[in-house]
Amino acid sequence: MLTGRRIVLGISGGVAAYKAAYLARRLVEAGASVRCVMTDAATEFLGAQTLAAITGEYPVLGFFDEPEVSPHTALGQWSDAMVIAPATAGTLAKLATGLSDNAMIATALAAEGPLVVAPAMHTEMWDKPSTQRNIATLLADGVTIVGPAEGALAGGDVGPGRLVEPEEIVAAVEASLNRDLEGWHVLVTAGGTREPIDPVRYLGNRSSGKMGNAIALAAAQRGASVVLVTAAPALRMAGVEVVAVETAQDMADAVWARVDDVDVAVMAAAVADFRPVTPADEKLRRAAGPPQIHLEPTPDILAGVAGREHRPFLVGFAAEAGSLDGAHHKATTKGVDLLVGNDVAKPGSGFATDTNQVTVYTPDGAADTWPLLSKTEVAERLWDRIRATYESG
Ligand SMILES: Cc1cc2nc3c(=O)[nH]c(=O)nc-3n(C[C@H](O)[C@H](O)[C@H](O)COP(=O)(O)O)c2cc1C
Repeated sequence: MLTGRRIVLGISGGVAAYKAAYLARRLVEAGASVRCVMTDAATEFLGAQTLAAITGEYPVLGFFDEPEVSPHTALGQWSDAMVIAPATAGTLAKLATGLSDNAMIATALAAEGPLVVAPAMHTEMWDKPSTQRNIATLLADGVTIVGPAEGALAGGDVGPGRLVEPEEIVAAVEASLNRDLEGWHVLVTAGGTREPIDPVRYLGNRSSGKMGNAIALAAAQRGASVVLVTAAPALRMAGVEVVAVETAQDMADAVWARVDDVDVAVMAAAVADFRPVTPADEKLRRAAGPPQIHLEPTPDILAGVAGREHRPFLVGFAAEAGSLDGAHHKATTKGVDLLVGNDVAKPGSGFATDTNQVTVYTPDGAADTWPLLSKTEVAERLWDRIRATYESG
């Protein structure tokens, strides 16, 4: 709920601006006082009068024709949190660089609370390196990015770029104001380890690191201090210390060196179970024929943490294909507090997707199956569950 919270809703100029009216209504229904600020382009897509009727206040539209003495800062200073939905590619660029040439960006700069941004644009615009650079900058600055979702876009196109549903944006605003993990120290692992065969090849897996990244980011946004040990391309995120690793041994060393200092460890990485015994020093050549590659087990990182004398609250992950029997077995035998199982063979679940459908097991084998959710929502729910279990035990 947002009872008593002061929320600024910024609206920029994309077709999805029509959904901002419904978002404003949902924010009001959640108990918030809502004030809106619109870009010039946004007013081409949505009437200011509509927002005035929903929120009870006429939106701020510009710098110079407003009754306020300081229309560029007044709303920002008033707000507990700001949300920009939809955020165009142009608005993302301005936010990332602080280019304050309209009242909405000035408001975002003047606001001291959390900022939630929901991008919406065509897939080509979303995929452009410039847009992705701006998103990376905003994430590193501590901005919450929600979406975009995949689906029908303006003009009959289909793909990533669709504004997420207003309910998800309201949930992200609520989450942005939640600091319930303040004072917690957590360690998260992410990505798929790579075990060298020779200087150019490795044994790897399909993990993208997205689930672990979402878990690290959600914890940081809720106030935790986070170490992310990752074998995926490192993402800079505010409040997250990133330790980049490559092999299972690197990850084990990094985790074991830090795990005594944390309250909670969430092991979301896909760690190789086996590695080549002796990686070749030089590139293996086709002409030499197929090589015999002998494998040996890698260190069991989860077991290493579970076996420590003063171990942290421990959450394991199990990626299974076809059945979750393996996850159930792991939950009851590995000495974890919670085990998150997912079937990577299911559509929309597992590696490289933005969604996941998971079952959370306790050590007694009890299972709680969650619906298909965005990885961000899975991460938020997982922290709710960890906190509830941690505090009750
Ligand atoms: C019909 C139409 C639809 C548009 N939809 C989008 C959109 O969904 N996302 C986007 O990034 N830009 C979109 N644009 C382009 C923006 O309106 C344009 O970049 C504008 O300068 C954005 O300004 P603002 O970010 O200050 O609101 C659209 C333009 C038109 C004419």
